[in-house]
This record gives sequence, C-alpha cells and structure tokens, in this order.
Amino acid sequence: MMLSPRLAKLGGKAFMFKDLREYIASIFERDPAARSSWEVLTCYPGLHAIYLQKLAHWFWTHRLRWFGRATSHFARWLTGIEIHPGALIGKRVFIDHGMGVVIGETAEVGDDTTLYHGVTLGGTSWNKGKRHPTLGKGVVVGAGAKILGPITVGDGARVGSNAVVVRDVPAGATVVGVPGRIVEEVTSEKRAARFAAYAVVQNQDDPYAKALQTLVDHTHELERSLAALADKLARVEQELAQRRAESERLEGLRAVK
Ligand SMILES: CC(C)(COP(=O)(O)OP(=O)(O)OC[C@H]1O[C@@H](n2cnc3c(N)ncnc32)[C@H](O)[C@@H]1OP(=O)(O)O)[C@@H](O)C(=O)NCCC(=O)NCCS
Repeated sequence: MMLSPRLAKLGGKAFMFKDLREYIASIFERDPAARSSWEVLTCYPGLHAIYLQKLAHWFWTHRLRWFGRATSHFARWLTGIEIHPGALIGKRVFIDHGMGVVIGETAEVGDDTTLYHGVTLGGTSWNKGKRHPTLGKGVVVGAGAKILGPITVGDGARVGSNAVVVRDVPAGATVVGVPGRIVEEVTSEKRAARFAAYAVVQNQDDPYAKALQTLVDHTHELERSLAALADKLARVEQELAQRRAESERLEGLRAVK
C-alpha cells in the first residue's frame, strides 16, 4: 500500500522515535548510573555524538562532505567525541562518558557495542582504503584502549582498559595489555549471556560463585552417599533381626526337645 508523502513522513518520525526509545533503553541496560530517560537524553554526550554522526554521515554520503566534516567538528566541540562522518556505526552503539574518543573514517562499529572514554579506533597507514578497525556486535572496549589498523574484533569480545590492540581478536575473547594479548576465550553460549557494565562479568567465571557451586555439588554428593549407607544399614538390621528371630526359634525348639 502506498502511503501519502505526509503519512510516510509521520511514519518515519514515529520510527525515529521508536529507534531513540530503544537506544535509551539499551543505555539503561549498560549504565548503572543512568536514572531517567530525560537525563540520558539531555546529559549523555555519547547519545549526542551518535545522533550528530547520523546527520554527518548523511551529509557525507550525499556528497556534502564539508557539511559532514563541519557537523562532526561541532559534535566534537560539544561532546569531546570525534567520529569521522564516513565511519559506519551500528545500532545502539553506546559511548559512555565519551571524552577523548576518536573513530576513524573507515572504522566500522557493530550493533550494541560499548566504548568508554579515551578509546581510539585508529589507522596505522596512509592508505586511502580500509585502514581502521572493524568491531563486531556487542563488543566492549575499556577506557583508553587503542585499536589500530584494519583488524577485526569479533562479536562479544572485550578489550581491557588501556590495551593497545594491533591484531585480530576472535569473537568472545578478552584482550588486555600492550600489545594486546588474549587472556580469555569463551564459547558462544557463554557470550550470549554476558554484557555487563564495565565489562565486569558476574556469572560463573566468578571464583567465589565457582567455589560455592563446588561446595553445593559436594554436599549433594555426600547426601547421596549418606542415603545409600542408611539404606544398607536398614537392610543389615532387618537381616540381623530375622537371623535373631530364627536362632531364638531354633533355641526354643531345642529346649522343648
Ligand atoms: C579486561 C577486562 C574486561 C577483564 O575483566 P575480567 O574478565 O573481570 O578479568 P579479570 O579482572 O579476572 O582479569 C583477567 C586478567 O587480566 C588482567 N587485566 C584485567 N584488566 C586488565 C587491563 N585493563 N590491563 C592489563 N591487564 C588486565 C588481570 O590482572 C588478570 O590477570 P591475571 O590472570 O594474570 O591475574 C576488564 O578488566 C576491563 O579492563 N574492563 C574495562 C573497564 C573500563 O574501561 N571501565 C571504564 C568505566 S568508566
């Protein structure tokens, strides 16, 4: 069905509003400090930078390059976050705090990725082509981390604060240090369950949780062994009682004789 241009325009606005609502909801999931939608809308530089980049990107892809750069420059002045208008930014990308974030022209950032302040997605060559990193979906990049060159960071990977990453990172891995080294690789099932604010994991990786789980398992094991022992004991007692009764009966018979 063809919508009238006016209705299509209204539909577009409703879609943008839904998009914004979804984005704000995703920020609540990722920032324990967020208190109200109004606060997020008005006081979160990451949100302002992302929406201004959408505008800058529109200019950039419609051959209005100067307007794209000017919008990006204005966003940088307003938020301290510099995103090149050519960069491809996915849905619900959240830049927390923001100050000092730099995202290069050929960088790609996947949906639901979180970047903290001081992150650089930078280039290492003068090549005109792809020279900035590609981040998968749901990646978390800690404060001050630098990801350099046309490398790929897989879905759900975590980059520690202040790491300098210059090689591909597999999906789900955790990378720390300079140069970045992998300290943990996880399976996809585990990855699915694990965005956590500040990339801090609160699941079964927690050594205290693991120790508790081991104790609980051990208790169950002991309970099972005790039940089996009690069962055996009951059977032995029953057998003994039968034998005692039998010997009493025999003794009674002998006395009669
Ligand atoms: C990398 C990170 C995701 C790892 O979290 P984790 O899964 O809880 O891992 P652990 O804390 O158990 O650390 C694992 C190992 O990496 C080391 N490590 C953790 N973070 C590190 C970092 N940023 N740089 C260097 N080493 C780091 C730990 O010392 C530990 O080493 P060990 O096994 O030799 O003892 C987390 O430390 C991080 O940097 N998150 C970003 C937080 C951030 O930027 N917050 C900003 C909020 S404003």
